[in-house]
Amino acid sequence: MKWNNNIINSQSWGKSIARMEEKENVAQRIAAMVEDGQVLGAGSGSTSYLALLAIAERMKREKLRIKAIPTSLEITMACTRMGIPVTNLDEHRPDWTFDGADEIDPQRSLIKGRGGAMFREKLLINASPRTCIMADSSKMVSRLGMNFPVPVEVFPQALTYVGQALKELSPKRVNLRMAEGKDGPVITENGNLIVDVWFDAVLSETEQALKAITGVIESGLFIGYDVEIVNA
Ligand code: 5RP
Repeated sequence: MKWNNNIINSQSWGKSIARMEEKENVAQRIAAMVEDGQVLGAGSGSTSYLALLAIAERMKREKLRIKAIPTSLEITMACTRMGIPVTNLDEHRPDWTFDGADEIDPQRSLIKGRGGAMFREKLLINASPRTCIMADSSKMVSRLGMNFPVPVEVFPQALTYVGQALKELSPKRVNLRMAEGKDGPVITENGNLIVDVWFDAVLSETEQALKAITGVIESGLFIGYDVEIVNA
């Protein structure tokens, strides 16, 4: 039996997408890599959304049987709208994962998490034998932290403790991420808070130093991961 309402199908990405042409090019390149029968880790953000659209088109045109493991609620909803069956890490290991990034340095280290999905994104990237990071020209930086802070997901009751512990890493600024569609802070899909941490310099040990703080669930730093960069 079908539901008689349109609440998910009436949504779209909902915001204007910067560098649309570049993102559509790289989305097409990702869609061209998909093979029949694969399970894909589906990252979050507008580039991942465009990649899903391109994959859904190929699925319809070529009758491909693909499953996705989404990294966020918006990508889960997008899969529902596009008719892409979703699964999870307990049922399947992804054949490969595609995702976007906020910053990519010359060593292919990343800052991710503008969309607040870095915990599930890191989980999928670690669980996948292969990860492709989609990059438009705005994402390439000479050093991490030039344009974006490092997002850190924090268990709510640990906020003040974590704020204190972060001082040991000498950040330039630490901001609690505030919501736009609700009063108060952003609450992640895991029920946690996000603090955005600006550093003068992100060091090779910064990811581990953040992870070592009790109360930090995960950060958006990906230092030295084995990822392929797919440019527009
Ligand atoms: C979300 C992310 C995104 O992949 C990152 O913010 C890039 O987004 P976009 O493709 O919209 O530029 O990490 O948590």
